[in-house]
Formats: sequence, C-alpha cells, structure tokens
Amino acid sequence: MTDASLNPLGTSAAELDRGDPLSRFREQFVLDDVLYLDGNSLGRAPKASLAKLRDVAENEWAVGLIASWDHWIDLARETGDAIGAACLGAPAGTTMVSDSTSINLAKMAAAALSHRRGRTNIVIDANDFPTDRFLMAGLAAERGGSLTSLDTSSIAGPQAADVAAACGDDTALVVLSHVNYRSGAIADVAAITTEAHNAGAMIMWDVSHSVGSVPIDLPGTGADLAVGCTYKYLNGGPGSPAFLYVRDDLITRLEPSLKGWHGTVAQFDMGPTFEPVDNIDRFQVGTPPLLSLCTVGPAIDLIADAGIEAMRAKSVALTERLVALAERSSRAWVRNRFAPRSQTTWWPRHLDPSAGSTDLRGAALERSRGRLPKARWVAPGSRAAIHPFRRCRRSRRSNCIVGQKRRPSSG
Ligand SMILES: Cc1ncc(COP(=O)(O)O)c(C=O)c1O
Repeated sequence: MTDASLNPLGTSAAELDRGDPLSRFREQFVLDDVLYLDGNSLGRAPKASLAKLRDVAENEWAVGLIASWDHWIDLARETGDAIGAACLGAPAGTTMVSDSTSINLAKMAAAALSHRRGRTNIVIDANDFPTDRFLMAGLAAERGGSLTSLDTSSIAGPQAADVAAACGDDTALVVLSHVNYRSGAIADVAAITTEAHNAGAMIMWDVSHSVGSVPIDLPGTGADLAVGCTYKYLNGGPGSPAFLYVRDDLITRLEPSLKGWHGTVAQFDMGPTFEPVDNIDRFQVGTPPLLSLCTVGPAIDLIADAGIEAMRAKSVALTERLVALAERSSRAWVRNRFAPRSQTTWWPRHLDPSAGSTDLRGAALERSRGRLPKARWVAPGSRAAIHPFRRCRRSRRSNCIVGQKRRPSSG
C-alpha cells in the first residue's frame, strides 16, 4: 500500500480510489448503492459467475444434457485446485470442493478419529462457530470419547499455550477456526498446529472466515486438514458447496469416513465394494451440486487476479480509515465504540488480529444509520467486515441490520 494508508485521512477517498490497483474489480460485480459490511455471511455476486450459471443451465444442461458430465466430473477437483492456489498456498491435488462445511467437518473429523485410533478426545474452542462445536460434541459422544472445550478470549482467539495445555495423551484431534467468526481474531495456525502435533494429535482448521480474506499458507503451517465455505469471501453464491484440504502426505493414508460412489476407483463400473481412489477424490461422496459449483470458479479467478496479499492490504487500509474517521467524530458514542482497549467492543484496536473487520453492533449501528448518507447499508448482527470486494449489496437475512438513506449527513 501507499504511505496514504499510514495516514488514512491525509488523502481523500476519491484520490485513494483513483490510485488503487484493485479499483478495476468494482465493475466485475453487480453493484447498487448499498454499503455492504457483512463479514460473516454471503459474498456479493460476480458478473462472471452469473454468466457462467446461465451458460451451464441453458447450454451445458439444457442442450448438452448428460454429455456435459465429461467435463463436469472433474469440476470439483479443478475448482478445489483453483481455491488452493489463489487462497491457501496449497498445491494441486490437495483441495477439493465437496458437500457443505458442516458435512466436511463431520466426515473429516470422523476420518481423523479413525486414523488416531486409541485416542478419543477432541479439543475445540468454546467461542467457535456453533456447527463446529455441535458436530465435534456429537462425534465425541458417538465414539465414546471426551470433548475439551477451550475457554478462549474472543478478542485474542485460541493461543498455542492453551492448545498445548489442553491436549493430552488421548487427544486425537484439535478443531479450531483460523479467523473467529464474531471478533475477527486471527489464530496463529503454525504455532498451534505445532503444539497439536507435539501432543500427537491431528488438527483441522475451519478457514471459512479467512479464505479469500486473509493470506494462508496451509502446507507451510503443517496443518493436517482444513475446511471452509465458498459463499462468504469467495463469492460463490448462496449455498455454493464447501471445500476440504488434506495435507499432501496424508491423503492416501486417511481412510474416507463416508464411502460414497464418487470416491471409489472405477466409479462407473458400479462394483460390489468401495475401494478409495489414491487421490483427494476419495473424500468426494456423491454427485456435486453443479449449478452452485459452477459459479465458484469465475469468482476465484477474480481473487487470483487481484492477489490475496493486495486484497488483505486494502482491507486493513479500509479498516484503518474507518476507525480514524470514527475517532475524530464529534459524537462521543462513535469515538468510544472504536477506542483502543474499549471495554465495550470485541474488536481488537490494533490491526493485526482484526482480519479487516470491526464491531459495529447493535445500538451503535442503529444510531449510525443517519450518518451514512446517499447509501443503503447492510451489516451483520455481530461483525462488519471491510473487504475490498464488499462495498455494496443488499441483504435480506433476518439477523442483518439494513439501513436506508434517511436524512442528510450532519458531518
Ligand atoms: C466458521 C463456520 N464454520 C462452518 C459454517 C457452516 O457452514 P455450512 O452451513 O455451509 O455447513 C459456517 C457458516 O456460516 C461458519 O461460519
């Protein structure tokens, strides 16, 4: 970024936009006049994804019919490779699009528990997203194991020392989120992975809130497994399928827990028994949802083109600017909301753990409506994300706060 990001109010927003190498991506999305600050839900619609959806529906499905399976059959792996390359630092063949994040969490955790047979404890974060906690609790109970729930700080996120202390001789698996879905706290994936491995446990990272938002080098951290959503920062569209990552050397050593016909050798021979293929495809269970999978690739192409490092730098700069504006506000409640070490906000004031997000919850948001002139705006109930691909779009989710232009700004 330029020096302007160090002094965010020294340059006008229009000037920053003019010098911004990412500004060309604005026209790649369907835009209106909504300020979209929804950091933990649905990404906006890339025009190329909508065009692809139309093409797949009207040509590949309506005209090509079953013959289109000749290239559809590899799309889940090809899209996984694209996500791995653009966002995860992952080599081809280690990432695949499959099922939902919840299903991937369950099926990969079950595979890990079987791999670490003899160990039955699972370590989770009490502040993690509900599905991660519920699924691991259910799995531990089903396997006659135990669950250790880390009582982490939602601002700092899980710490390596917490994980080291929690893991015992019977810990099979640690399941954590890279970026906390509420506060945006970023966990130290490499340090925590090392502690899990020192204890003889495997680790699975939920990267739903970091993929496409924060650079990750999964192979560099040594992480065993990862899962994540494609409909958030990857802009895949509502209900687009999730992805899973398995460390290269682990793929053929890990037995799939859900043995479906898309994971077996000679799939179309319709043979009598399941024999897992010797690549990432073994974790594919059934037929991929083509119409919602086909939109993911064009969205990933945009991220690959922009570069995740540049996107992160812009996200941080935008967050800095918002905070600087709030800090010089004449309204005490706005200043207090963003004050360093505020007792009332979950958001860490310093930028490193912020994941380009800030807490604009509840009453503060309600009261701020009139201060965002000439724009409707949308923010989630918990966290507002300042993301380069997210500056406009309406949301109708019930837990979103949606504002409309009401009265002119007073300052
Ligand atoms: C961190 C995290 N993990 C898992 C999920 C569940 O994803 P899905 O509903 O697609 O299974 C979500 C959904 O928002 C999430 O935020």
